[in-house]
Amino acid sequence: MSERTEIQRMRELEDIVEYHSRKYYVDNAPEISDFEFDALLRELQELEAKHPDEASPNSPTKRVGSDITNSFKSVEHRYPMLSLANTYSSEELGEWIDRITKEIGEVEFVAELKFDGTAISLTYEDGALSRAVTRGDGRRGDDVTDNVRTIATIPLRLTGEGYPSLFEIRGEIYMPYASFDRLNTEREAAGEPLLANPRNAAAGTLKQQSSQVVARRGLDCTLYHIAGDNLPASTHYGNLMEARKWGFPVSNHIKVCRSRKEIEAFIAYWDTERKSLPYATDGIVIKVNDYAYQRTLGTTAKAPRWAVAYKFQAERALTRLRSVDFQVGRTGAITPVANLDPVQLAGTIVKRASIHNAQQIAALDIRLGDMVYVEKGGEIIPKITEVELSERPADSEPFEYITHCPECGSELVRYEGEAKHYCPNATECKPQIIGRISHFVSRKAMDIEGLGGETIELLWENGMLRDIADIYSLDPIQLAALPRLGEKSAANIMEGIRRSKDVAFERLLFALGIRFVGETTAKYLAGHFLSLDAIARATTEELAEAEEVGAKIAVAITEYFRDEHNRNIVERLRDAGLHFEAAERVLTSEALMGKSVVISGKFSGRSRDDMKALVEAHGGKCLAAVSANVDFIVAGENMGPAKLQKAEKLGITILNEEAFMALISHDEARATTAESAVKQDIVDTPIQGRLF
Ligand code: IVH
Repeated sequence: MSERTEIQRMRELEDIVEYHSRKYYVDNAPEISDFEFDALLRELQELEAKHPDEASPNSPTKRVGSDITNSFKSVEHRYPMLSLANTYSSEELGEWIDRITKEIGEVEFVAELKFDGTAISLTYEDGALSRAVTRGDGRRGDDVTDNVRTIATIPLRLTGEGYPSLFEIRGEIYMPYASFDRLNTEREAAGEPLLANPRNAAAGTLKQQSSQVVARRGLDCTLYHIAGDNLPASTHYGNLMEARKWGFPVSNHIKVCRSRKEIEAFIAYWDTERKSLPYATDGIVIKVNDYAYQRTLGTTAKAPRWAVAYKFQAERALTRLRSVDFQVGRTGAITPVANLDPVQLAGTIVKRASIHNAQQIAALDIRLGDMVYVEKGGEIIPKITEVELSERPADSEPFEYITHCPECGSELVRYEGEAKHYCPNATECKPQIIGRISHFVSRKAMDIEGLGGETIELLWENGMLRDIADIYSLDPIQLAALPRLGEKSAANIMEGIRRSKDVAFERLLFALGIRFVGETTAKYLAGHFLSLDAIARATTEELAEAEEVGAKIAVAITEYFRDEHNRNIVERLRDAGLHFEAAERVLTSEALMGKSVVISGKFSGRSRDDMKALVEAHGGKCLAAVSANVDFIVAGENMGPAKLQKAEKLGITILNEEAFMALISHDEARATTAESAVKQDIVDTPIQGRLF
């Protein structure tokens, strides 16, 4: 392709990729497979790498994130970012409505959900996202544009018409529960502290230094306020509806209300229904709809007078704290857990609550026997938020935090910069050993079925399992002889162990349970170093060169391999025959080396994905769209007429399934490379009447 056509193709791809990305993320109605999407995205990335000066700052490839480190620039807001006045009861809300009606008479209100995330202000110039700024102190915020570009539902370029050439649109960036849960599962597996709730997770993610990290975290956004001149409508609601047409994610749960009764009905409905939403909300926002009335009402220094938040009652209950247990995790981290008098809270009975660490106990001055408030926010388990001091028993004494491990008696240690206490006895402390073995056998690690927590404990108690390497010398006869196990379970476990020897290297690396080495980090490490020996040999500096591996992780890895006990385990795992090296992609043949292929239509014997896998297995590359880059097309039934026309116009060879199979077969008599196949005209097998 000439340079000009490549640049044209880049522009074309920007639109195509943006279109399909919206279909997938915003409309939930994808028109192409993930595979095809990836191919388009890759094609665009390759062209951008070739012509970096021509790459658009709003290219959809920016959503993938870059690894350039952000140091956030502080920028001034064009219009200050105000907060909202809160109301907590129907009476307070009634007073607010009365004040407005008194000042301007009957007005229309708009009731919306109050999203529990972190505020963002987006600037669009000539229909393109130019800046994204956090609230900061309301006057100045951090420029987080690179990170915000990775959020798939935020349009990089607008569609439709009628948007002003310059305007700001504000909203909330939030982390849906699904992303939050996934993130915490990953953090738990990596032995990292869990994030408290989706709001903190969203705010923390937005301030990440690498936008690649942001891209993976699954943030979302909703927009609820537009500021600028020449807006198409004179009402808040009218403009939000226009904004939706321009491609902005605007909530569907918005209602124009004409009376207090309608507002209250909206609140009552969402007070219950919000529990089934996939994201956290903490109230309802009520706004005066008409801009002219908004102007009349004006603002205070902190908040507009034309809007108010009605906060949902945080679901909390008052109960007595009986005792505190201390749990020891697989990393040795100590977590205090409160035992409470059972109390009803948000539909469940709560008996236990988390208290994060010693500092938290001291900060809230929590004492045994206190009446405490427990709350369920977006949090995973309820937590103690406050002590009811008026009910404190006269003889109560400050809480004394433990100094020794409740399981093995070792003296606890604190690491610099960490709030938690740790038990340092990694090799003998039972919950740490059982936790590490449970992690090793878990589904995302070695995936050994049949070895659940209870069985591991049983084996430990019987002296058959002291560390992860012992798994590979378990004896089936001894196993079957254990109470509660029997021959069938023993055979299942042995089969699971046998199969685990095929598990890929990166999963073994994750399974080892090195601190901070989660699933993703393990993949990056495996891809970078290719073998466990190379990782074990690497210096901290070399480790930190791998993508996604910071100093903290690098230190944890070197410490792991410095430990003699760990080295011994690793050697025994090697003897067991586990994969210590990354599998190289083995090509079936090089018949399609350097060829770009489009797979189109339906095939009789294979799925389209199978066909694509075949292309790659033979060294070829699959592209989604027909362009001058394509060497040939493999056409099944129902190839789209547009594609066909384009292929004909560009003079691209079209193969049917049979001809393609012949091409990649090892039959020397026919052809071994695409080049000679095309020359030999095996393509001439006629299919569907007229394809050539
Ligand atoms: S309107 C001048 N609408 O709640 C208009 N805010 O506690 C100000 N929030 O700062 C914002 N959902 O970060 C508005 N539907 C919604 C909202 C919303 C969440 C946030 C926003 C605001 C904070 C105030």
